[in-house]
Amino acid sequence: MFIQKNLWLLLPIFSLNIAITLASDPDPLQDFCIPNPTFASIKTHHTFHTILPCKNTSQVTTNDFIFSNMKTSGNFSEIGLAVIPANPTNFPGLNTLGMSFARTDIEVGGINPPHFHPRATELIHVIQGKMYSGFVDSNNRVFARILEQGEVMVFPRGLVHFMMNVGDEDVTLFGSFNSQNPGLQKIPSAVFGSGIDEELLQKAFGLSSKQIGTMKRKLDPKQER
Ligand SMILES: *[C@@H]1O[C@H](CO)[C@@H](O)[C@H](O)[C@H]1NC(C)=O
Ligand SMILES: *[C@@H]1O[C@H](CO)[C@@H](O)[C@H](O)[C@H]1NC(C)=O
Repeated sequence: MFIQKNLWLLLPIFSLNIAITLASDPDPLQDFCIPNPTFASIKTHHTFHTILPCKNTSQVTTNDFIFSNMKTSGNFSEIGLAVIPANPTNFPGLNTLGMSFARTDIEVGGINPPHFHPRATELIHVIQGKMYSGFVDSNNRVFARILEQGEVMVFPRGLVHFMMNVGDEDVTLFGSFNSQNPGLQKIPSAVFGSGIDEELLQKAFGLSSKQIGTMKRKLDPKQER
């Protein structure tokens, strides 16, 4: 009787585990799978990272497992942000391994606007600078504070997170993702830069047509100054 009762209690836990397992990248079927460059045209499409044929292992070299393009920061955008992602599109060795990586630099006063990764939890390590950093859970509770050099923070999968340099030097941080294709949705551009009907945006945010226009101009890459 006791055991039976407890088994029922465990059922939701089992189903939760199954959901978690199905949510991650598939397990590799071989040691590694360096994408075959014969199919390089597929790689130029940003939704690549699904399944690509592997190179013959005899053609695989050490350099396929090394990424050398994040020794220095990328180019800073208008909001003081420079991100260099490393995923199978530019770092072939990661393919099928269920992980990816990024270097982020933020200028003094710069921000990484609220965004989320639908398919990955992100673990960041601040190696220089001081930044206000946090995320929002699905009850709209904010978990945020100032991180200093050496600190590590985790942004749970699918939750909105953000950063702002509040120090007096550039922030440099590295982030790892438990998916080779974490996905990225920036809240400002998803809302104002995506082409959602303007009347809906006015009603949703209580903004005038003019204010919506301002937001759209700010976020539409085609109209960038
Ligand atoms: C891989 O390359 C080796 C050496 O060139 C060759 O012997 C082998 O047949 C190739 N395998 C496939 C599946 O093409
Ligand atoms: C930064 O911009 C320069 C000049 O446009 C370009 O040559 C370089 O590749 C860019 N660097 C990165 C990491 O995108």
